[in-house]
Amino acid sequence: MISIPIQQLPCPGSYEIESRDAAQPGAFVVHHAAGISAFLNCCPHTGAPLNWLPDQFLDAEQEHIICSLHGALFNCEDGFCIAGPCQGQSLTPVPLRCGNNEIIVDFDP
Ligand code: FES
Repeated sequence: MISIPIQQLPCPGSYEIESRDAAQPGAFVVHHAAGISAFLNCCPHTGAPLNWLPDQFLDAEQEHIICSLHGALFNCEDGFCIAGPCQGQSLTPVPLRCGNNEIIVDFDP
């Protein structure tokens, strides 16, 4: 479990959780207009991490998650890919809950 203070995640915004094991994907949390979601940091196209800068997972309009490698776009709510080489596939969701000004992500890095 990872606890993230809510003030570290503005809306819109994203937050990276790095894996301690380089062979395993990390995760990330996205704060968007419809709420807060978390996914494994693993693009369904090649399995690569989506971001090339720390904590940067949103497109220029801050409306979709974007993969920095080939530009696939994903819905923030459910991780469904709407454009790009893995269109129709989805990011893997990670459970989370919110409370007491923190986000608890069910992910063991
Ligand atoms: S690795 Fe993500 S779109 Fe190709």
